[in-house]
Amino acid sequence: MRLSLLLACAAVLTIGCEKKTSTDPKPAEVKQPVADTKPAEPAKPPEAKPAEDVLLLGEVGSLTGSEAAFGISTRDGIAMAIDEANEAGGVKGKKLAVRVYDDQSKPEEAASAVTRLITQDKVLVILGEVASSNSLAMAPKAQEAKTPMISPSSTNPKVTEIGDYIFRVCFIDPFQGFVMAKYSREELKFNNVAILTDKRSAYSEGLTEVFQKKFAELGGKIVGVESYSKGDTDFRAQLTNIKKLKAQGLYVPGYYQDVAVIAEQAKELGLKVTMMGGDGWDSAKLFELGGTSVVGSYVSNHYSADDPSPRVQEFIKKYQARYKTTPDSLAALGYDAARVAIEAMKRAPELTGPAIRDQIAITKDFPGVAGTITLDEKRNPVKPAVVLKVEEGKFKYVSTVAP
Ligand code: PHE
Repeated sequence: MRLSLLLACAAVLTIGCEKKTSTDPKPAEVKQPVADTKPAEPAKPPEAKPAEDVLLLGEVGSLTGSEAAFGISTRDGIAMAIDEANEAGGVKGKKLAVRVYDDQSKPEEAASAVTRLITQDKVLVILGEVASSNSLAMAPKAQEAKTPMISPSSTNPKVTEIGDYIFRVCFIDPFQGFVMAKYSREELKFNNVAILTDKRSAYSEGLTEVFQKKFAELGGKIVGVESYSKGDTDFRAQLTNIKKLKAQGLYVPGYYQDVAVIAEQAKELGLKVTMMGGDGWDSAKLFELGGTSVVGSYVSNHYSADDPSPRVQEFIKKYQARYKTTPDSLAALGYDAARVAIEAMKRAPELTGPAIRDQIAITKDFPGVAGTITLDEKRNPVKPAVVLKVEEGKFKYVSTVAP
């Protein structure tokens, strides 16, 4: 326990150092309190108190580990929102800052990071996580402490069911699973589909269940379900079984790193099947790791960079100017989550957990980059999804599915 805490602190400090030497045009975009940005003794926890006049938000994300791309994009989207809010005068005359902890893509680290944000840093709002399993590990602690938590992108329904302090700004998986089931039945005209699920991920398990049910309801047949555990590197046994099933489609609701290896090994084994997935595929890393083996697949997602609407294109322009890369849906949702939190803080009569919570809960018609956000009584927004086709090195927009 002690050792893992030390390691976590060291990780945060390392990132602080990297940020200083990066080519980022605005290296100080995450205006962390000084203690987090200057190198310190790894054995000494960073100074807890932010400067008096700074309103501190907390963020937990996977900056390292198998989902590192998720945490990095989310952090960058959030940092841009915070800087924009500060440039526009901050909140109640004060500047905002965000303290970011790396959970190394592990639920147990996410849980201890959220405890630190609550007890040590005393943050007003918590942003995160991306992976549903990590958000599920964090949410009970935020709920208990009455510190509002907004997950930008965890889609498993159970996350916000944890309690009335837990929100999200993305659609949920009963809808996302339906989108791909419908697309594969009605557009791709598939009759037989197999599934390869990650049994260690709440997200993957949830999507598998919905897809299975919806695809069957639409008259299709699920010819087999195989499973793996996050972090596995050899999927050949499962893929060999799947090959025998002669399915037209293979639904893989996993995260980019595993998906890339699965696609490579499927190709190697001569498995000719159209792969399909969910938002968990969304990262430029998918192409880096999976090469051309992922080309021709379809995924459901929150937003498309091809969307011509000014709201989306303006965001992309600002993000590209700042980070020299096209934002993925994680960056867009991180940006949206931070702005929902900031707007609620502006409206709240006082900056306490309960007062901010009440304002987040009444978020209505908020112009998010990844869709307009109106939170329902279960603290979820209802939004359309997009279907994207994987081409060489990019996702191409194919359609929008409304709830
Ligand atoms: N929806 C995924 C989950 O709940 C996380 C994710 C969102 C990944 C968006 C990529 C893009 O675990």
